[in-house]
Amino acid sequence: MASEKRLEVVTCTAPVNIAVIKYWGKRDEELILPINSSLSVTLHQDQLKTTTTAAISRDFTEDRIWLNGREEDVGQPRLQACLREIRRLARKRRSDGHEDPLPLSLSYKVHVASVNNFPTAAGLASSAAGYACLAYALARVYGVESDLSEVARRGSGSACRSLYGGFVEWQMGERADGKDSIARQVAPESHWPELRVLILVVSTEKKPTGSTAGMQTSVETSALLRFRAEALVPARMAEMTRCVRERDFQAFGQLTMKDSNQFHATCMDTFPPISYLNDTSRRIIQLAHCFNAHHGQTKVAYTFDAGANAVIFTLDDTVAEFVAAVRHSFPPELNGDNPALSPRFLKGLPVEPVPLSDELKAALGTDPTPGVIKYIIATQVGPGPQVLDDPGAHLLGPDGLPKAAA
Ligand code: DP6
Repeated sequence: MASEKRLEVVTCTAPVNIAVIKYWGKRDEELILPINSSLSVTLHQDQLKTTTTAAISRDFTEDRIWLNGREEDVGQPRLQACLREIRRLARKRRSDGHEDPLPLSLSYKVHVASVNNFPTAAGLASSAAGYACLAYALARVYGVESDLSEVARRGSGSACRSLYGGFVEWQMGERADGKDSIARQVAPESHWPELRVLILVVSTEKKPTGSTAGMQTSVETSALLRFRAEALVPARMAEMTRCVRERDFQAFGQLTMKDSNQFHATCMDTFPPISYLNDTSRRIIQLAHCFNAHHGQTKVAYTFDAGANAVIFTLDDTVAEFVAAVRHSFPPELNGDNPALSPRFLKGLPVEPVPLSDELKAALGTDPTPGVIKYIIATQVGPGPQVLDDPGAHLLGPDGLPKAAA
């Protein structure tokens, strides 16, 4: 009988998302409610994903969590908020009279283990995928079927957008309790198959100001941020939705770049100012504009979050040429002149090497700077969270403890 089962365990994966209309600023710090709506593209999990196993058992004496193999403090407020929310939803489901899908008691403690398939050191935002995956896995294990925006959002605002594949909006909502601050899919991952994403991982020495602290200072000090949120974002959300629906790359690319630039302008308007872009980021911006000018149209678009890494949107017919342009301007640094010892410069989807025309080389100008881009990850739009059926995928063993690293 199922009720005799000692351990209920589930493993899920969730994607990273990158905003093209940025979320920056909260109107409620506790509930994580934003001052403006935002819109993002979900990246493919073949390249970037979080995998999370959640297990509940009457034998567990406390909630515990392991991230990338290391046990972390489960008392962390945002983690606690997610756990509280999911247990509240599970309790609500019961009191609403639904058949209880799981006989295990809600009072059982949970063990969670989570890993990323990309290096945290690369400075790629992992909290969105992490909290979306946590919300999804907890929902499965506690038998919750309602919208999970609220659970993921309490972990990290941008995480609610990682609950869906394709193109996703986070509607800011109006209510003080946040019930209408939810993520919704604008278009599925199959909608725009030609769209490609290149992540240019930039070398940095220092850790940037975290988003949470950064946006708090911006809300307190930047009049430009308030103006953006109130007067500009509503129309931008409508226009971005149109660009996605109509697959209008020119307009999509231009608005993506403008919104990234405006977000970084609000960071500069913050007091004391915050700068996430470094010299390499600015040179990538220049490169993209030179490339577009050379072609007489918007062929590539950049966007930057709270760090120096660039995310480039382009279409499949332009990937090879743009990668060649990046390689030309920012050649990989050879490890002791031995290419065999150097980490691969291009990861992810395969990209054919193509020669650059002399005209384009001339248009790109500036002397090549080796080593400032560590590597490129080529990816595309992808699906939302998944449940892994293979029991071999569980990160926790039958004893509820992390399996020895495979
Ligand atoms: C620049 O979601 O990381 O990436 O809600 O405080 O956890 P918290 O912040 P977070 O902020 C993301 C900011 C951004 C823009 C975006 O993803 O929309």
